Amino acid sequence: MLQEVISQVNAMVDTARNNTFRYSSKHPYCVRRYTFGMLKTTTMCHIPDFIFDPREARMISNAAYLHDVGKLLTPKSLLNKRGHLTPEEREKMQLHTMDGAMLIYFHPAYEEPLLRKYAFEIALHHHERIDGKGYPDGLQGSELTPWLQIVSIADTFSALMEKRPYRPAVYIDRAWEMILNGDCGQFDERLLRCLDDDRRWVFGGVSDEIINADELIWAYENKTEAEKRAPTDDWPL
Ligand SMILES: [Fe+2]
Repeated sequence: MLQEVISQVNAMVDTARNNTFRYSSKHPYCVRRYTFGMLKTTTMCHIPDFIFDPREARMISNAAYLHDVGKLLTPKSLLNKRGHLTPEEREKMQLHTMDGAMLIYFHPAYEEPLLRKYAFEIALHHHERIDGKGYPDGLQGSELTPWLQIVSIADTFSALMEKRPYRPAVYIDRAWEMILNGDCGQFDERLLRCLDDDRRWVFGGVSDEIINADELIWAYENKTEAEKRAPTDDWPL
């Protein structure tokens, strides 16, 4: 079992580190794509604190792919349980955040410090909410970084639209409505308003090809500082 977990973690970390993603409808891939789409949208909305350059956006999105890596240590009987979890089971399930952070922290091949930093924080805190009602640390307000909040929305949105052993999948409009209503915890109002105004991030041509394309990074880095700061309707900024 341990060897199996180690090889699965290795495979996921290698994918994130080498940027070798291939299309998949699985949850980690979807969270990566939605994260990138949202990082792009909030940047184009020019929301203060929510502006990211393409290299950063790709790094955060790749780290977001690893958000649930700790579930490799969660008992399968718990992951596949039909019906609601007991309080004890819920507590056990919530441990995937700390398990994920630990797997990333101790991963021997995870030498890129920035990717490691993002992946560690995302694994540990992707279930935190700004009202302090999330877990495992009950972080509040600005204790949650803007990019962490974006990954949390991407995770919630993606999860709602997927079937789970204890509930059916939710349609896209209903999923977004639930997020806006606060049914899945509280998110930053400015962030929700921007994403609600510009729903392109949902389907907005955010393909693996776009996120993987080095041209995106080069196009941005070849711009002057003034060009980088100037508002534009297109990505890269
Ligand atoms: Fe999770």
